[in-house]
Amino acid sequence: MNEIILGIESSCDDTSAAIIKDGYLLSNIIANQQVHKAYGGVVPELASRAHQQNIIPVVDQAIKTAGIRKEEITGIAFTRGPGLLGSLLVGNSFAKGFALVNGIPLIEVNHLQAHVLAHFINEKDKKNKHPQFPFLCLLVSGGHTQIIKVSDYFEMEIIGQTIDDAAGEAFDKCAKTIGLSYPGGPEIDKYAKDGNPLAYTFTRPKVKDFDYSFSGLKTAFLYFIRDRVKENPEFIKDNRDDLCASIQYTIIDILLNKLEKVIKETGIKEIAVAGGVAANSGLRDMLYELGKKQNLNVFFPEFKFTTDNAAMIAITGYHKFLKGEFVGQDITPLARMPI
Ligand code: KG4
Ligand code: ZN
Repeated sequence: MNEIILGIESSCDDTSAAIIKDGYLLSNIIANQQVHKAYGGVVPELASRAHQQNIIPVVDQAIKTAGIRKEEITGIAFTRGPGLLGSLLVGNSFAKGFALVNGIPLIEVNHLQAHVLAHFINEKDKKNKHPQFPFLCLLVSGGHTQIIKVSDYFEMEIIGQTIDDAAGEAFDKCAKTIGLSYPGGPEIDKYAKDGNPLAYTFTRPKVKDFDYSFSGLKTAFLYFIRDRVKENPEFIKDNRDDLCASIQYTIIDILLNKLEKVIKETGIKEIAVAGGVAANSGLRDMLYELGKKQNLNVFFPEFKFTTDNAAMIAITGYHKFLKGEFVGQDITPLARMPI
């Protein structure tokens, strides 16, 4: 066959390019943007400027690492949305130009679908395990928290989702409250390993059906910390690990509680996790535990495929390429784009 897809990801603060050949990953290059660390969150204008600087070297490195020639690429896939418009525009413009110059088809990719389809990336000399259709995907990232029923590559139905903040946002905001750096998820994960998850309890939100809510928890955590610090200015320093373990445990407990309900309702026992929060070690441990108890097949993508990366864009593009789903030069990015 020799279908070679170049994938481009630029929806937020990572510039990434990847090459997939016949479903197998040849390279996946990611340039993180350190510029946002000082601001405690992503600054959109700085993100799009950094994408402009990074895109050409990142693509160049992806092609070199893959050991192919640019002329061998048969299709180019890019993230159309959802994401920051200025950031998306850089990847979108690059992909359009590349498609035009090289006379190859252009493929639009939904970033959220790509997080789900990261489960189908194959690597040479590895036996990557893939979930069987239909499966449930818990998509947990900085911007999204959804339970998705995946019946086929592009047949996805949202069963439940957050009505306010995303789980990753809850990690990031709670981390900020106790002075940890951005992004806070990995920081909380790190300190939680040495803490007691039951040291502090926080009330669980009451949301109907299979939906989530995290904004109340974030506020409860903020007030809790404020009150304790009034009594003891050293409270955060003295209890950092227990605070991290307890807030992490609460977020995971909320996530798994609803997931369990959906499993019961649908009878689906293939469970996949996607998005940046899938990197969380507590979530992995607790979901594997649940899997053992309930006879579930649990899938976590490899760490490098959980946070934003172009390998997931390229694999999604590859499956669209096989279906002949291409777009024209008039395509524009979308800040909002439903799954
Ligand atoms: O999918 P992603 O890279 O970007 C999008 O939001 O699309 O997800 C980023 C989110 C951030 O909120 C970050 O704090 C969270 O994933 N995250 C984690 C961990 N690693 C990344 N949250 C908890 N534990 C982690 N180990
Ligand atoms: Zn993402």
